[in-house]
Amino acid sequence: MCGIVGYIGKKNAVPILIDGLKKLEYRGYDSSGIAIYSNNHIIIEKSKGRLTNLEEKIENKNFNSHLGIGHTRWATHGEPSDLNAHPHTNTEETIAVIHNGIIENYLELKNFLESECNIKLKSETDTEVIAHLIDYYFEGNLLDAVYKAVHRMEGAYAIGVICKNEPDKLIAVRKDSPLIIGIGENENFIASDIPAILKHTKNILLVENNEFVEITKDTIQIYDNLKRTVDRKPFEVTWDIESAEKEGYEHFTLKEIHEQPRAVLNTLNHNLKNGKINFENLKITKEELQAFDKIYIIGCGTAYNAGLIGKYALKKFAGINAICDIASEFRYNDPLIDEKTLVICISQSGETLDTLQSLRLAKEKGAKILSIVNIVGSSLTRESDYIFYTLGGPEIGVASTKIFTCQLLGFYLISLHFAKLLNKMNDDEISTYINELTTIPNKIESILNNQDQIKKISSMQFNNESIFYMGRNIDMEIAYESSLKLKEISYINSFAIGAGELKHGTIALVKENTFVISFATQENLFDKMVSNIKEIKARGAHVLTVVKESSKNIENLCDEILKIPNTFDIFTPLLSIIPMQLLAYYISVMRGNDVDKPRNLAKSVTVE
Ligand code: F6R
Repeated sequence: MCGIVGYIGKKNAVPILIDGLKKLEYRGYDSSGIAIYSNNHIIIEKSKGRLTNLEEKIENKNFNSHLGIGHTRWATHGEPSDLNAHPHTNTEETIAVIHNGIIENYLELKNFLESECNIKLKSETDTEVIAHLIDYYFEGNLLDAVYKAVHRMEGAYAIGVICKNEPDKLIAVRKDSPLIIGIGENENFIASDIPAILKHTKNILLVENNEFVEITKDTIQIYDNLKRTVDRKPFEVTWDIESAEKEGYEHFTLKEIHEQPRAVLNTLNHNLKNGKINFENLKITKEELQAFDKIYIIGCGTAYNAGLIGKYALKKFAGINAICDIASEFRYNDPLIDEKTLVICISQSGETLDTLQSLRLAKEKGAKILSIVNIVGSSLTRESDYIFYTLGGPEIGVASTKIFTCQLLGFYLISLHFAKLLNKMNDDEISTYINELTTIPNKIESILNNQDQIKKISSMQFNNESIFYMGRNIDMEIAYESSLKLKEISYINSFAIGAGELKHGTIALVKENTFVISFATQENLFDKMVSNIKEIKARGAHVLTVVKESSKNIENLCDEILKIPNTFDIFTPLLSIIPMQLLAYYISVMRGNDVDKPRNLAKSVTVE
């Protein structure tokens, strides 16, 4: 999710832009850059990676400027690199542009610029065409040129433009991407989000869709699409920076748990066309799929747990028996791989070293790679043959939540697609499952709207020293993920087990008041789970059981029952994980932990 910021005024723009970009870091980014006007030139500095790289680059340059724009980029067109980072310029570097969004007709505009204007584009981005197009139309008035350029563009955009020939002006435009203006004294700002400028002003103007803004240090004029002036009253922000970034949530983890309905919906919508699966980057043919005689699924941590559930989906829908392995085991286990092998790699970051090295090992042996990834342009995506993007947006909290549900969704869609290619299911059967998937966002929402029970259980259990989880089949895999979530953010000792394994040793740990969370969402295994619950109840355990709303009544048997909305058994993980994420979250908060950054953990594990 790109972030933009711009400044015009009497102060030095550079530290204001850098500070603003820092405040937008939470949106996620892979590169950053600034453009400033200084000594009759537009100066551009940009860098791949963290903002500190950009800061180091400009550290000793003593830039001083009253006008500038800055950008944090979340790659969409073209990999993260210095070259693809914003701002982008026209050939003579007299115009600089930052952009958040996607220009959908960028290829058409690129062809026009290359063939009709003989312009050579330097980057792989859609944004660069905007700078050249503005230059093409520039006849001495920047605002007019921006109007003409924007009228040729289709897509979503929040754009900031500066021009060497009009150094007293900053132009901004918005359609479907966020843009606000900050009003200061002898200075004004633009940004994609209020936190970027909140330090300097609380006086904010919202820019609406299809509006253009001409900003000087003392004036702000908004125009509509037909260049008629628009009057808009500013409003005063009453909240502080911290809560603004987290949109009112106490932690990013909680915000991300709450973002799941939208994350799942985005991922679903992006991969469906007229109710049918339509993948953009996963063009596998029937012949290619039939040629594989082995499928491995690999990942680490939560991504691996998603793979465990994916294995069930591949079997149920496509009749494929996949092998799921932890990446750090797979790579040292002499896996049997050849050119008839498909390896499915799962990773939020796309940079986890064990997963990457497993991919490389598999490729060396001739396998094809399908990756389920969140970060566009990450190493995993660059080295894969087929890609499924989870479109959950940036995940800041170290504990993976919303991307886990998107990874599950990815597996369901891929498995249904494979079922079609392999003639394992007919269109009607596939539609039935897809229709059910479209109901999932609302069902997640309904769980999120009823948190009282989870909060109460958290307040009863947060001081517990150990919490166990059990289930069978797909419920066992969700028990693993629930336990991992609890461990990493609450630091409570926890394990998960296949309920049938209890009596082979682990039941020795169960004593009076041992808190056990059991999952009984699978109809064919319900009675087996009831027996397991009885076994541990007989030893004094305190049992909470997660069931579907339509489940048989076992309230007398358990201490607590937690109901999730009905869905097909294969899809229950999409719902049963939500209260477990909330439980881990509230327990972590009650224990006074740093929820978003748990001890000893990093968001992206790029070491072995
Ligand atoms: C757990 C968690 C980790 C990651 C694991 C893999 O909440 O976040 O277990 O799932 O480190 O990371 P990615 O998905 O980036 O490969």
